[in-house]
Amino acid sequence: MEVFKNYEKLQKHLNPKESIGFVPTMGALHQGHLSLIKESIKHHQQTVVSIFVNPTQFDDTGDLDRYPRTLEKDLAQLASLNQNLWVYAPLVSEIYGPAPPVTNPYDFGALTQTMEGLSRAHHFQGVATVVEKLFRKVNPQSAYFGEKDFQQIRIIETLVAQKNLNIEIVRCPIVREVDGLAMSSRNTLLSPEERSQAPLLHTTLCAAKAQFLRQQSIDTIKQNVHEIYEKAPLFSLDYFNICDENRLQDIKNYPAPQARGFLAAKLGKIRLIDNMPF
Ligand code: PAF
Repeated sequence: MEVFKNYEKLQKHLNPKESIGFVPTMGALHQGHLSLIKESIKHHQQTVVSIFVNPTQFDDTGDLDRYPRTLEKDLAQLASLNQNLWVYAPLVSEIYGPAPPVTNPYDFGALTQTMEGLSRAHHFQGVATVVEKLFRKVNPQSAYFGEKDFQQIRIIETLVAQKNLNIEIVRCPIVREVDGLAMSSRNTLLSPEERSQAPLLHTTLCAAKAQFLRQQSIDTIKQNVHEIYEKAPLFSLDYFNICDENRLQDIKNYPAPQARGFLAAKLGKIRLIDNMPF
């Protein structure tokens, strides 16, 4: 397995007659990422994994500085996976030139006016910017994304449609720790006490889903969730929403097909998100 900082150099090793699966990541790889990479390897002759902590998708410089960077460990995890696996780990200047852009060129409409889009002002502009740049370099047949960032998947599906990119976006299920916590690179930043409380996001979603399936009023379900977090002093709840999976708009009444629960909370300084189909 080879690692490249420069895409032109990587490209020389790819066989243009063979299909490419692409897994964009920001590194600090865990089993969730590995599940995406294995899925790509299963369906494509060649797999490219990018490892790039994208500065333009962070609103908070503290969050960017804290983001775990573990390239050596990441490469060790990938080494045994497959021969036809290439890692693209560019510097910021390779992606953005001398300075990252300051414009917001994308319009994803209502998809960005909710949840992460409200809490993190330029986040999805930054995600779309880097993903479009990477897609245009790698030009894969398929790209693999984890459902933990479900709103991100809907943005990227929309990006691909808006830009007429011929890339299949493959949604992959959330991979969880045994206690239910959704795997995330940020989990490594939790203190032992925070880590022990972190599964609350998953248990809250499970409880809310059970109430939803009994058709309890949506307002009551939301109120119950807020009460749980009022009694959990290490947490600060950002949002709990029940939305339709396509447009990501709030569901207010039953029947509610294709509903999904979404939750974001700060645990100490670390922001965690989770979601589940209802
Ligand atoms: O999901 C992520 O890790 C990032 O948002 C992505 C898609 C690699 C873009 O930087």
